[in-house]
Amino acid sequence: ERLPELLRLMPKAELHIHIEGSLEPELIFALAQRNKITLPYPDVESLRRAYAFTNLQSFLDIYYAGASVLITEQDFYDMARAYFVRAAADNVVHAELFFDPQTHTARGIAMETVINGLHRACVDAKAELGVSAALILCFLRHLSEEEAFETLEQALPLRDKFIGVGLDSSEVGHPPEKFARVFARCRELGLHLVAHAGEEGPPAYVWAALDVLKVERIDHGVQSVKDPALMRRLAQDRIALTVCPLSNQKLCVFPDLADHNLGQLLDAGLAATVNSDDPAYFGGYMNDNFVQTFAATGLTAQHAYQLAANSFEASFIDEPAKRAFT
Ligand code: HPA
Ligand code: ZN
Repeated sequence: ERLPELLRLMPKAELHIHIEGSLEPELIFALAQRNKITLPYPDVESLRRAYAFTNLQSFLDIYYAGASVLITEQDFYDMARAYFVRAAADNVVHAELFFDPQTHTARGIAMETVINGLHRACVDAKAELGVSAALILCFLRHLSEEEAFETLEQALPLRDKFIGVGLDSSEVGHPPEKFARVFARCRELGLHLVAHAGEEGPPAYVWAALDVLKVERIDHGVQSVKDPALMRRLAQDRIALTVCPLSNQKLCVFPDLADHNLGQLLDAGLAATVNSDDPAYFGGYMNDNFVQTFAATGLTAQHAYQLAANSFEASFIDEPAKRAFT
């Protein structure tokens, strides 16, 4: 088959990967043993069997529990290193990694432990695997804006080790407006801005991410097709959507991968990209997302080329490097 081969071999950028969501059950058990933590599952297989989700929240509960084995700087390094090795095998040449510091600082892990471990893995990924990488700090939207400000304050001594901020966790009931002030502050600081919006939440959340938070990309955004005026806005301003097809299927955003609207987004002229979101939990890394989605929806080689081009165009790498990739 020619198309799956093209999808696997083409150089691509990944712009929507939660690094805690790359933690495979095997590594969860290895880190638990190293850190002398007892898990509520007897073995890898029973943990993996628990990965049956009905919506975003049912996933988040088990995803935050899995992250509890991360204690030392080396743990964060090892997690990111495993992701980079896997990404390189999928011909990912650039990756922008989300991380959730509040999941760790709430357990007494120091901010510098988290950021220094992840940053060292990014430096080594470039030198040893040829994958360029950068970090995006995400605020947990189920927590308060005041807690987001405290997290930003804790991270600012390490400002040179992350390029931007994002917004993730439970979407419905936590609209972007809740974080208007902290995003305004991050904008003043020159940080890149992104936010999850329109994964399960309504088009109004995508509008607010654009007009209130002033984000440069929308993470997911698949609910935007419900609002034609929003679709025109996203196309006109070339606002990228970091779409995650296997995530959407596993969290029942689309009952079947064949129902996914990626083709509709691309054909409407939007800068959609394909990403893995939480590959250890959703059963697939980048090439699995590409190959399975193309097989299920009948997208073409032209769509593949567009998706790869979009991934570099929407990335935050500097313009000369961007031109070298495209
Ligand atoms: N949505 C919201 N929060 C998340 C996700 C997601 O897809 N993955 C990890 N945290
Ligand atoms: Zn996500």
